[in-house]
Amino acid sequence: MNDSSDILIEPVAAPTNEVRALIAELDRTLSAEYPPEQRHGLALDAIFQPHIRFFVGWLNGEAVGCGGVALFDDFAEVKRMYVRETARGRGVAQALLARLDAEARAAGLAMLRLETGVRQDAAMRLYTRGGFRQCGAFGAYASMRPEALATSVFFEKPVGVAIRPMSESFGAEVIGLDLSRGLDDAAFRCIEQAWFDASFLVFRDLEMTPDQHIALTRRFGPLHIMTPLHYNHPDHPEVMVLTNLEEGGKPLGIRRAGMGWHSDGEDKQVPNAGSFLYAHVVPPEAGDTLFADMYAAYQALPTAMKQRIAGRRARFSRVDMHHVHYPHEPALTEEQKRERPDVFHPLVRTHPRSGRRSLYIGRWARDVEGLHPDEGRALIEELFAHASNERFVYRHRWRTHDAVLWDNRCMLHSATPFDEHRHTRLMHRTTLEGEVPA
Ligand code: SIN
Repeated sequence: MNDSSDILIEPVAAPTNEVRALIAELDRTLSAEYPPEQRHGLALDAIFQPHIRFFVGWLNGEAVGCGGVALFDDFAEVKRMYVRETARGRGVAQALLARLDAEARAAGLAMLRLETGVRQDAAMRLYTRGGFRQCGAFGAYASMRPEALATSVFFEKPVGVAIRPMSESFGAEVIGLDLSRGLDDAAFRCIEQAWFDASFLVFRDLEMTPDQHIALTRRFGPLHIMTPLHYNHPDHPEVMVLTNLEEGGKPLGIRRAGMGWHSDGEDKQVPNAGSFLYAHVVPPEAGDTLFADMYAAYQALPTAMKQRIAGRRARFSRVDMHHVHYPHEPALTEEQKRERPDVFHPLVRTHPRSGRRSLYIGRWARDVEGLHPDEGRALIEELFAHASNERFVYRHRWRTHDAVLWDNRCMLHSATPFDEHRHTRLMHRTTLEGEVPA
């Protein structure tokens, strides 16, 4: 006979004597082991509340486990799950968890994580490492006693937003944002904090009109209108259009923009704080965007290099580098050259919000102030070789309705080519005003 075939999981509205005895026994053990603040709602009457669905697991007629899922307005939580040690190997714990999971799902909640066999502290570490953070519409709890049972289960409510880090050091995915339902301040603050923590955010399957795109960007700070204006959306100058589409031989946006490592506005006195790129049409292959973490790149520099670049400024020159990065575009006119004079920015900048230092270079950085142009160029190239090492890089493979918000103050990015003759790529970008790098 299968070990778990004789397990019965039964929903109960009120405790039977047998269940009371089971819970009392487990409560006693837990009370001895855990300080009061870690015993969340252990009392029986706390379990049998209207908002808690409670289940008992029976094995051969004996109550060997019980568990409850609490369904609150903005989150769900497995209040506890107890299983007698002797019953663990019989699948009661798994069966109970499956039952609790089904219950939560039926209530419209998606289970994010479920662990068995871990203590609270270990569970909380797993919880953090696993990419879930307590935020807005989140509930998280871990319990209990390793021998009897240890469980941690996390749920999110789909109407809220969840943040899932994409790697140890940078990048996070925002899950569940639905702009048609609005975005309250608490959820927005959660997203904004995640942006500062992770430097770039990915939103998948985001339905976003140009108006919504502009409105959402504006919540992060003042918008920057890109020039020249003719690459911007005809009805929404705040939106820059990046595309290979044409109408009657006239480009509908800027072509091949952003090839080569850069941060937006680096060639201006006041570079842009952030950029928010949204995919309307993507090619079936290629056309990815690369992102590189300049906090990590700076951190990883050898001490001698950190000393060498400390206090130095790079010369960013649109005039000298235009033909390198935009060979397909007309040469700059004298007027355009006057509008885009060289600027100097520190090679190491400090993020105004996080206070962290990052390497600040980019494709318009030609050389280094105070060094011979050849020496300055060689230094920039050496820094580029370091900064673009794959350990600092994430490749975003676009899907339609992806949006990516990145922080230009601590990241580089680079567009990559695709077959422009066979495929279409249509992206909208909003851009945030920034501050003078320091
Ligand atoms: C950009 O540099 O802003 C555009 C990146 C891309 O289109 O992949």
